[in-house]
Amino acid sequence: MQLDPETLALRDRYLLMIATILPRPIAWVATVSPDGIPNLAPFSFFTGICANPMTVCFAPVNDRNGKKKDTLINIELTKQFTVSIVNEQNAEKMNQTSAPYAYGVNEFEKAGVTPLPSVKIRPFRVKESPVSYECELQQIVRIGEGALAGNLVIGKVVYFHCADSLYNDGKIRHQDIHAIGRMEGAWYTRTNDAFELPRPEAS
Ligand SMILES: Cc1cc2nc3c(=O)[nH]c(=O)nc-3n(C[C@H](O)[C@H](O)[C@H](O)COP(=O)(O)O)c2cc1C
Repeated sequence: MQLDPETLALRDRYLLMIATILPRPIAWVATVSPDGIPNLAPFSFFTGICANPMTVCFAPVNDRNGKKKDTLINIELTKQFTVSIVNEQNAEKMNQTSAPYAYGVNEFEKAGVTPLPSVKIRPFRVKESPVSYECELQQIVRIGEGALAGNLVIGKVVYFHCADSLYNDGKIRHQDIHAIGRMEGAWYTRTNDAFELPRPEAS
């Protein structure tokens, strides 16, 4: 099968991507509106970019009517967000925060998630997460226009949190995080089936 995206409906392009870019880590992104109302939602078009400066990105797409997600609206207005890591223990709460709540609804309260104050920025982070990043907006890259168009949010990490029990002399073992990844549809994967493949020498 060979397909030209230009000939496909927008939704079908999206379905191909989420079924084949696997597994995707999940950024649980907390923001705050200018008048102080917290917002929390998951995003799996998410990755790290570089360590100098420590930088991450995620992509809230416009909805099918071309409307911006609440997370993006808040970041445009306040320039700050936190990313908390999703694991097996907090998966169901994460999922609840993805419901289409109206702008101004506090998803921490709706999903029973505990907000913890950040150190350098206003948005809260998630107490139930083993790892959180505090981020200042560096840039938003607009990709396309209208329905399902993208907004790549790039953030500089200004503070890092992890559970004391995870951190051992600068190292964190992935086996202790129990992170989950997003697959397609309503499927997720655990990360307890990892294998090692040391980097080769040039030969
Ligand atoms: C695991 C998971 C991953 C998601 N990833 C994305 C994503 O990468 N981009 C996106 O626009 N929406 C994604 N969503 C949907 C948003 O979480 C959902 O639209 C949410 O209501 C947005 O909230 P907000 O309007 O408060 O920002 C995802 C949902 C789930 C459950």
